[in-house]
Amino acid sequence: MDRLVVRGENPLSGTIPISGAKNAALPLMAASLLTQEPLTLRNTPDLADITILGELLSEHGTEIALRKQDGVRMLRLSTPAITSAVAPYELVARMRASFLVLGPLLARHGEARVSLPGGDAIGHRPVDLHLKGFEAMGATIFLDQGYINARATNGLKGAEIRFSTVSVGATENLMMAAALADGETVLENAAREPEIGDLARCLITMGALIEGAGTDTIRIKGVAKLHGAEHEVLPDRIEAGTYALAVAAAGGDVVLTHTNPEAIEALLELLGKAGAQIDRTPDSLRIRRDPGHRLKGVDAMTAPFPGFATDLQAQFMACMTTASGASMISETIFENRFMHVPELMRMGANINLHGGTALVRGVDILKGAPVMATDVRASVSLIIAGLSAQGETSVSKVYHLDRGYERIETKLTACGADIRRIRD
Ligand code: EPZ
Repeated sequence: MDRLVVRGENPLSGTIPISGAKNAALPLMAASLLTQEPLTLRNTPDLADITILGELLSEHGTEIALRKQDGVRMLRLSTPAITSAVAPYELVARMRASFLVLGPLLARHGEARVSLPGGDAIGHRPVDLHLKGFEAMGATIFLDQGYINARATNGLKGAEIRFSTVSVGATENLMMAAALADGETVLENAAREPEIGDLARCLITMGALIEGAGTDTIRIKGVAKLHGAEHEVLPDRIEAGTYALAVAAAGGDVVLTHTNPEAIEALLELLGKAGAQIDRTPDSLRIRRDPGHRLKGVDAMTAPFPGFATDLQAQFMACMTTASGASMISETIFENRFMHVPELMRMGANINLHGGTALVRGVDILKGAPVMATDVRASVSLIIAGLSAQGETSVSKVYHLDRGYERIETKLTACGADIRRIRD
């Protein structure tokens, strides 16, 4: 199993190109099931999760071809026919976003048998909102042997669906299903994340009739068929936020390119308050923090978009461990998203947990140590801590990291970080 070894205290300087968004590419790939014509996705990131979803889509009959055009990865997905409606446990368990095939299979094929994804390190991750929505659209759903069996033999019907909790995945799953339903579907209390807007733009290019994506009410008028399209995956706002926090933690001066600063406004506001200098253009972001000027502790609370993203909480905490003063960090989205805390404490961080809130008291310096990754964002928070720590930090189980970050050691090394991958 690979591990990454970081020797800290090198300020970062240079340029980091941001890749296509993992959390946009995954639903976009699932959308390819909605049509028998090819869907080509430009700027798909080279990540383990993308590969796993590709394996699952092939089970359903999707032919996948990857090519590079002027250095940009082009993924062509074509599903002339659905050859199997079963999404097997061994694939869904490895990558829970596989559950996003349920809506497209129901809409295109009238039935689906998808393994319940199960929980993971950050929470038990229920899918009740997805299932309630499909039932409202006329599907019959029953659970057996850990599989969700869904059937809509006479096709899905448009419905009024109000989510009791804001859910990115449920919004995406139901928006895709509604695109081919009979009649209009209204999704209320819908998620507003930029990835939802990106999926809607792609579906509209395929012929879907969607209004309101990016707001909390989305209207979808079902159509009989969708056609193929070509779509560019939007830049990964979580990758951008992660590297912005790495610079704030390690100190230095880095420009992030191919990005969209307005997608991480909430984070940039926190970083500004903490004392980092931020300069932006529509597609780039410059972050500076003079190593001689310590960050100030700033409180943060995660929330659905446009609030502070839960996927940046662990990285923000790593940054706050050596700030002056204290930072109170509340995690409101997931019930167990503090797995990085004991690992940061092994490096000398001073953190107290009270339910969903962590009180971080800044220490002068972290000390490098062997630590363990548990999920994609916790693992990158340990890399950020290692970049600012004294000595060497070895992060094991980096397969978690490789699920969400393309070529992280290459991008950081290019900015002066001392980081290397060890194959054990
Ligand atoms: C998406 O997960 C992202 N994954 C997550 O990123 C992200 O943390 C999350 O949205 C929140 O922004 C992808 O896009 C592939 P949710 P998702 O449904 O859709 C509860 C990463 O690190 N809920 O918005 O699974 C749920 O338990 C990953 O890249 C229900 O109760 O998240 C959670 O408390 C981690 N019932 C809250 O809603 C449901 O049916 C938000 O979950 C669905 C969700």
